[in-house]
Amino acid sequence: MKVLFIGDVVGRAGRECVAALLPGLRASHDFELVVANGENAAGGFGLTRPTAEELLSAGVDVITLGNHTWAQREIIPYLDSEAPVIRPLNYPPGTPGKGMIVVRGRQGTEIAILSVMGRTFMEPIDSPFRGADAALASVEGKVRIVDVHAEATSEKAALAHYLDGRASAVIGTHTHVPTADARQLPGGTLFLTDVGMVGPRDSVIGADVDSMVQRFVRQIPVRPPKSREVRGPVTFNSVILEIEPSSGRGVSIRRLDLEHEARPGWRRGE
Ligand SMILES: [Fe+2]
Ligand SMILES: [Fe+2]
Repeated sequence: MKVLFIGDVVGRAGRECVAALLPGLRASHDFELVVANGENAAGGFGLTRPTAEELLSAGVDVITLGNHTWAQREIIPYLDSEAPVIRPLNYPPGTPGKGMIVVRGRQGTEIAILSVMGRTFMEPIDSPFRGADAALASVEGKVRIVDVHAEATSEKAALAHYLDGRASAVIGTHTHVPTADARQLPGGTLFLTDVGMVGPRDSVIGADVDSMVQRFVRQIPVRPPKSREVRGPVTFNSVILEIEPSSGRGVSIRRLDLEHEARPGWRRGE
């Protein structure tokens, strides 16, 4: 079975790009499941119910989040609903939402999707290693896909090796920069340090260039314009995982990177 994992979807242009490309990809690849990281889907920061529903109706089955989970506070009741949206599981006990979900794919395969967040150069949080241990033990025997949302490449690789043989795939998100290291680990787990993003190519990790340059040149935070038309292509970074459904063991992993010309009216932000 094949699973498509899509990198952080950034703002309206990212959502529009997913809606433009995903139906065709689903038709030609027969994906059992499509996962997308949606932590930047609402105007670049966080997720709202309408933006989540946009992604779900475009053909995404499960949305994962990350450090921007709480940027749009209206999402909190939605996270507690049955919606197929998960936040990192290593927040303290009692945090709204869920960090793992078990869904059925298009052919009925039971698939567990987990989200964990790294701790290096990020906000303090519980251990992603111990958190993943407990969650994976509860879904032994199923296909298990882990989104590791982290800044440090070393932390992601260490987690992937730690989970080798226990997870079907460990896929990195958060940096918005695609890495070229898709591979199968010795124990069978499929691993990629970072899948990348779906967002404006001519940007600084999806964000407005002028604001980001000023922020680094002057060391003064600059609020980006609320909305600006996107010119040039929108990058679509994703990865195709092939997994043996009965054992949950990884078979192959390859990147799928596309560019889509922004249509008039597509905007960053929003
Ligand atoms: Fe992100
Ligand atoms: Fe992030």
